[in-house]
Parts: sequence; structure tokens; C-alpha cells
Amino acid sequence: MVSHGTPFQLILLVEILLIAATAATLVSTIAKPGCNDTCGDVKIPYPFGTTPNCYFNEDFFINCSYFKNSLKPFLRNSNIDITSISWDGRLLVPNDVTSDCYTDGEPNDEDSNSWSSMDTGNLNVTISNTENKFIVIGCDSYAYIRGSIDDKIYRTGCISFCDNKDDVVDGPCTGNGCCQIDIPKGLTNINVTAYSFYNHSSVSKFNPCTYAFLTEKTQFNFSTAYLGSLPQEEYSFVLDWSVTGNGQCEEAKNSSSYACKENAECYVREEYGDRSGYLCRCEKGYQGNPYLSHGCQDIDECSNPDSNNCTQTCINEEGSYTCKCHEGFHGDGRKYGEGCIADVDLPSQFPLVKVALDQLKEVAELAKICLNMKGEERPTMREVAMELDGLRLMHKHSWVNAELYLEETERLLNDNSDVYKYGDGSNTTAGYDSLKDHVLEVLDDGR
Ligand SMILES: *[C@@H]1O[C@H](CO)[C@@H](O)[C@H](O)[C@H]1NC(C)=O
Ligand SMILES: *[C@@H]1O[C@H](CO)[C@@H](O)[C@H](O)[C@H]1NC(C)=O
Ligand SMILES: *[C@@H]1O[C@H](CO)[C@@H](O)[C@H](O)[C@H]1NC(C)=O
Ligand SMILES: *[C@@H]1O[C@H](CO)[C@@H](O)[C@H](O)[C@H]1NC(C)=O
Ligand SMILES: *[C@@H]1O[C@H](CO)[C@@H](O)[C@H](O)[C@H]1NC(C)=O
Ligand SMILES: *[C@@H]1O[C@H](CO)[C@@H](O)[C@H](O)[C@H]1NC(C)=O
Ligand SMILES: *[C@@H]1O[C@H](CO)[C@@H](O)[C@H](O)[C@H]1NC(C)=O
Ligand SMILES: *[C@@H]1O[C@H](CO)[C@@H](O)[C@H](O)[C@H]1NC(C)=O
Ligand SMILES: *[C@@H]1O[C@H](CO)[C@@H](O)[C@H](O)[C@H]1NC(C)=O
Repeated sequence: MVSHGTPFQLILLVEILLIAATAATLVSTIAKPGCNDTCGDVKIPYPFGTTPNCYFNEDFFINCSYFKNSLKPFLRNSNIDITSISWDGRLLVPNDVTSDCYTDGEPNDEDSNSWSSMDTGNLNVTISNTENKFIVIGCDSYAYIRGSIDDKIYRTGCISFCDNKDDVVDGPCTGNGCCQIDIPKGLTNINVTAYSFYNHSSVSKFNPCTYAFLTEKTQFNFSTAYLGSLPQEEYSFVLDWSVTGNGQCEEAKNSSSYACKENAECYVREEYGDRSGYLCRCEKGYQGNPYLSHGCQDIDECSNPDSNNCTQTCINEEGSYTCKCHEGFHGDGRKYGEGCIADVDLPSQFPLVKVALDQLKEVAELAKICLNMKGEERPTMREVAMELDGLRLMHKHSWVNAELYLEETERLLNDNSDVYKYGDGSNTTAGYDSLKDHVLEVLDDGR
């Protein structure tokens, strides 16, 4: 059995290795050359990095350390571990749910996590106001979120009541059993606290706890079951990062530590205001890591019909592509544009003339073959006749007819008696002489 399976396993292994090799070449462009691009199972793209010389500046240092027996990427010197990093200025961060729970009107235990905080002090990141919401769940509940914006203290909260479970509906979080609020721009150093008004005494049968947490807007749907207990899965929220220290784009471009490399452009996200720095992205027609030298690579728009608008021929160029039409067509070659148009719009009888000329050429070719070929290679007259028959059926026109071809062929092959005859061969037309001349010309060339 084992020896039987080996060749297949080997082929499979080779295939896997090939795929792995291809994947590795693609993936390696995310980190600086010679730098490790992963920590545990998290990808670490430059400007972030885990070892000296592998990150853009101290802001982007990732401390890849063991936590509960697995490697986790911690942001700089903080206890904030990251689950994903994206070039568009987002860090996904797991979040503890703050809960305040009661049994028969008594708090569950003194050291329950009724508050949780995140110190983003010197990290130059902010809690994203566009991606996150603050959620409070419970029927006798309120919670605060505190933090700072610049150097000012910010506080807000959300209240949620309900009298019985039937009043509460699954879906949007609208105040009955669940409350949500937006958070302001530029929030840092947060502290979330959960409370109850009446120790959950009148709702304890179906709702013993208040839960409060920040979460990614799109990743949370409310369910009435959460009043009983919130699933232990982690909720994540988004931190905004940017390249800080040298102002925003115009100013930063003058600095020796400008972060955007070749074919990359600088931009500032709308929600930043003038509070934070800038980000880089590849220019149109390029893709890759805009923070790495030669990170932005040309996109071959022509390799995928969905990435170009050409109707006939696509030509890839550095940063773009152009469309071309086949020979005999003109136009810009683009869908939604002119497309490709045939060069001449011939009057209706013209195509017939063209067919006739094509037929003349074919007859000439045939004649040439007959003369050039020797011995067994020469087609029998029957084959020639069948070929001619095919041509005759192809098109009938007043001055291009089968008799004409046949007579001409007969003349050319007059040493052969095995001619298959159509008609009596007496019908000659104006087309005859020109055909004869044409064929003879070809024959002369062949000699
Ligand atoms: C990259 O780092 C991870 C964890 O720090 C380690 O497991 C892995 O072996 C390293 N990869 C390379 C190619 O050094
Ligand atoms: C990374 O974090 C660990 C655990 O907190 C700490 O012991 C270590 O000194 C940190 N490494 C660096 C380079 O800061
Ligand atoms: C968070 O707020 C709670 C309640 O006000 C307070 O007891 C706690 O010390 C605060 N935590 C931090 C880190 O500020
Ligand atoms: C809630 O419980 C606390 C601690 O047991 C108690 O001091 C307080 O009076 C209770 N409040 C209400 C409204 O029951
Ligand atoms: C929330 O509900 C919407 C609409 O029903 C659904 O598309 C989405 O996947 C749900 N999100 C989560 C995280 O369950
Ligand atoms: C990060 O923020 C701190 C405090 O605002 C500032 O002093 C520091 O220059 C910033 N880091 C960078 C790299 O700009
Ligand atoms: C950038 O440098 C140029 C030339 O050195 C100067 O004219 C311009 O004012 C500078 N811009 C900023 C925003 O500093
Ligand atoms: C194709 O043309 C349409 C209309 O001009 C444009 O919106 C679209 O972006 C083009 N697609 C590509 C792949 O260039
Ligand atoms: C020659 O062909 C034309 C057109 O097919 C026909 O009208 C004419 O009668 C033919 N003449 C002879 C002599 O067969």
C-alpha cells in the first residue's frame, strides 16, 4: 500500500512545494527584505516590524512575545496585542468585555471586571471613530466610556432598560435591552465601566449582567440571548495609525524621513483632521507595499479581462494599459468608448467581389500545388476536381463560375485525360482572360 501511494504523494508534495514557493514570493513583499513578516499567525507588514532595522521608526515596533504559550504581536511597549494590521491605517485589536453581574441583588464578586482600560499613551494611535461603536447590553444597565482627546478629558455613556424579555427584539441595537453610541474623533486612553441602577433585582431572572464594550460596527448584531449571557468570543475594535512626527503630506514630503516610496502617494484620512500624520498608498495602476522601496509594482491589467476595458487587443504599460484594434479596424478599442470599427463599410455587392477574388486566389494556389508537386505527392485529378467543386458551391456569381475554373485547370493539366467534367466548358466570360493571366503569372513565379 505504502509503496503504491508514494509516487502520488511525491507529485502532491512537489505541487505543494511549488505552490508554497509561489505564495512565499508574493508574501515576502510585505516586510522589509531580510525581515520576518509574521508573529504567531499575524502578518506584520512594513512599516511595522519585529526587530531593529525592520520597522520604520519606534512607533512601528512590534514586540513579538509569548503570552499564554503562544506568540503574540504587542504594540511597542504596551499590553495591546494586535490581530491584524492593514496599510490603510487600521489595527484590529481584541477587546475585553466589561461586565457587572449580580445574583439576588448582590454583586457576583468583588474583583469582577466592571471596568477595563487601554492605555494608548505614547503609541500615536487613536480609537477609530468611523469603524467602532460603544455597546451596552442589559435591562437595568448603564455604562461610561472615558478617555482623552488631545489633552482634554472626554466622558460619555449609554443607558439600557427593559421590563421583560418579550419587549426585546433581535437585530439592531436600539435601546430596548441594548444601547449603542458613536465615539468621537481622536479618542485615546480609554476606560470603560459598567453599572446597574437596581442591582438587576427586578430583571435577574433573565438578565443578571450589564455588558459594555467597544466593537467594530459591522461585526456586531444584537441577539436577545445576550441578555442571559454574552458569548465568550472576543470582540475586536479598530485603532487608527498613521505616520506621525513630520506633519501631513505637504510638509512630510520635504522631510528626510518621508515614508511613501516610488509610485506611492501620500494621503490623509478624512476623519483624522489635522490631529495625526499621513498614510501612503500605491498610485493607480500599481499594487503592493507603498512603504517599501519598489514596493508598488505595476498591475498587468491585460492579464485579467475584468481589469481592462479593451474590446480587441490590450497592451500593458507601466502604471496603465492601452487598447488597440486588430488590423482592418479603427477606434479607441474600448468598451463604453468607440470600440473597434471595421475600416471600410463596403456597398452591398462589394463583399461578393471580395469572395470572387478569394476564390481566384485559391484556384491559383491549387494550380500551383498541382504543378509543383511530383509523383505520389501530386493530388489526383479527382481530388482537384472535388476541391474545385467545393469552390463552385461556395459561391455562384455571373462571372465567377465553376466551368471557368474547370477549363482553366484543364488547360494547365492538359497532359492528363482523367479530368472530371462539369458542363461542356464552352462558356467563357470577361473574367476568363484576367484569370488566365493571373494563374500564368503564378506559374511563371513557380518555375
Ligand atoms: C518569524 O518569526 C516567527 C515568530 O517570531 C517564527 O516562528 C518564524 O520561524 C520566523 N520566520 C523566519 C523565516 O525567521
Ligand atoms: C517585549 O515584551 C516582553 C514582555 O512584556 C518584555 O519582557 C520585553 O523586554 C519586551 N521586549 C522589548 C524589546 O521591548
Ligand atoms: C477606570 O475607571 C474606574 C472607575 O472610575 C476606576 O476605578 C479605574 O481606576 C479606572 N482605571 C484606569 C486605568 O484609569
Ligand atoms: C445594590 O447592592 C449593593 C451592594 O450589595 C447595595 O449596597 C445597594 O444598596 C443595592 N442597591 C439596590 C438599589 O438594591
Ligand atoms: C449581522 O447581520 C447582517 C444582516 O443580517 C449580516 O449580513 C451580518 O453578517 C451579521 N454580522 C455578524 C457579525 O453576524
Ligand atoms: C508619537 O507621539 C509622541 C507624543 O505625542 C511624540 O512625542 C512622538 O514624536 C510621536 N512619534 C513619532 C514617531 O512621531
Ligand atoms: C518644501 O521645500 C521647498 C523647497 O525646499 C519649499 O519651497 C517649500 O516651502 C517646502 N514646503 C513645506 C511645506 O515646508
Ligand atoms: C471601464 O470603463 C468604465 C467607464 O469609463 C470605467 O468606469 C471603468 O473604471 C473602466 N474599467 C477599467 C478596468 O478600466
Ligand atoms: C454562360 O453563362 C451565363 C451565366 O451563367 C448564361 O446566362 C449563358 O447562357 C451561358 N452560355 C452558355 C453558352 O452556356
